[in-house]
Amino acid sequence: MRVRICERSDIGPDTATRFDVDDLRVAIIRLGDDFYAIGDECSHADFSLSDGELEPDDCTIECPKHGAVFDVVTGEPETLPAVRPVPVYTVIIEDDVVYIERSDDDASPESESKDTTS
Ligand code: FES
Repeated sequence: MRVRICERSDIGPDTATRFDVDDLRVAIIRLGDDFYAIGDECSHADFSLSDGELEPDDCTIECPKHGAVFDVVTGEPETLPAVRPVPVYTVIIEDDVVYIERSDDDASPESESKDTTS
């Protein structure tokens, strides 16, 4: 299902912005003219990755709480303490509007247990 997020111009270059879409927390990340979408909840604990520091050259974002680094393309953690990936969503830009493609199973995993690695 395609979900409208925002206007393309709402997201500045090399920024991450949180959007709440129904029950889904998503971080839209713009690196240059490329857009990515990942779940905006660290897989280690409930902190917003969109508050973290982007590293445009590496296409990564660092969790602001404990410093796990995630690949914004794959959602995979590159450093501890996170060991599980965050979800990634396909981004579609059409007529200067940003959409993501989500399935019905994409609700934020509120009830899932978090990694306990520290
Ligand atoms: S909450 Fe993100 S690394 Fe701990």
